[in-house]
Amino acid sequence: MFEVFYGFRRAPFTRDLPTEELYMPVMLEEALERLEYAAERQWFAVVTGDCGTGKTTTIRRLTQALSAKTYKMMYLSDSKLTPRHFYKGLLEQLGCEAKFYRGDAKRQLHREIELMRGLHQLKPCVIVDEAHLLDREMLEEVRFLLNVHMDSESPMALILVGQSELWDRLRMQAYAAIRQRIDLQCKLQHYDRSQTGEYIIRHLAYAGSEQAIFSDNALDVIYTFSSGSARLINKVCTNCLIYGAVNQKRIIDDHMVKRVIEGELI
Ligand SMILES: Nc1ncnc2c1ncn2[C@@H]1O[C@H](COP(=O)(O)OP(=O)(O)O)[C@@H](O)[C@H]1O
Ligand SMILES: [Mg+2]
Repeated sequence: MFEVFYGFRRAPFTRDLPTEELYMPVMLEEALERLEYAAERQWFAVVTGDCGTGKTTTIRRLTQALSAKTYKMMYLSDSKLTPRHFYKGLLEQLGCEAKFYRGDAKRQLHREIELMRGLHQLKPCVIVDEAHLLDREMLEEVRFLLNVHMDSESPMALILVGQSELWDRLRMQAYAAIRQRIDLQCKLQHYDRSQTGEYIIRHLAYAGSEQAIFSDNALDVIYTFSSGSARLINKVCTNCLIYGAVNQKRIIDDHMVKRVIEGELI
């Protein structure tokens, strides 16, 4: 409904923004370049960032950027991932039905991956999202994926994606064996004030908005409230647009943003 009032053709600030429409600050371009390199070299990479900083979105964009002719992407995002589910989930994405026992499924996965590399000349790339929720046993299991040959060549690219506490855990002594295998570490940052403004403009442009809707002072308040987290920016902007449409305000100023935050978001 606010879409009609503001003359939008599409809804801004949604999760399913097409990856070619993303806001692309230099830091995101750099992160993507490094991750593409990691996929190409079949490295072990860890992507961390606070919640809502665009980790899953970055992975969506990476998957789209890597050609399906060269790469076989496998993506898991399951907070209750057990080793069995892990192998089952990956095998399913390869079109195979997993064997029942964990050890059998593991060997089966390794065979499939060998086939993929040898016969089909594809580079496997396994992405495990929400990896901060994995327990120690599961993290070890994930690491074993890289250990088939005992030698130099890694059988796949592996990208663990998780909130910042994943990195805090990996820094602990108990995780030294995993940490030493990491080839690339990528930390996503919150947006600063000017990036927050650019991010909002990008979403509004995608929606088809012709003019600025948020005043400069409004952007200051949005930035302070969200600390530059994309998800929180989306939330506060959407709530402000609803409020603005209901109250017939073409321009949303700082007072309105504060009212929305105090009334609906805290
Ligand atoms: N570069 C970007 N351009 C546009 N929208 C983005 C961008 N990064 C994140 N978003 C949006 O912000 C929200 C949170 O991003 P998400 O990737 O789910 O964060 P995380 O996985 O770090 O918690 C999503 O709705 C997403 O569409
Ligand atoms: Mg995510």
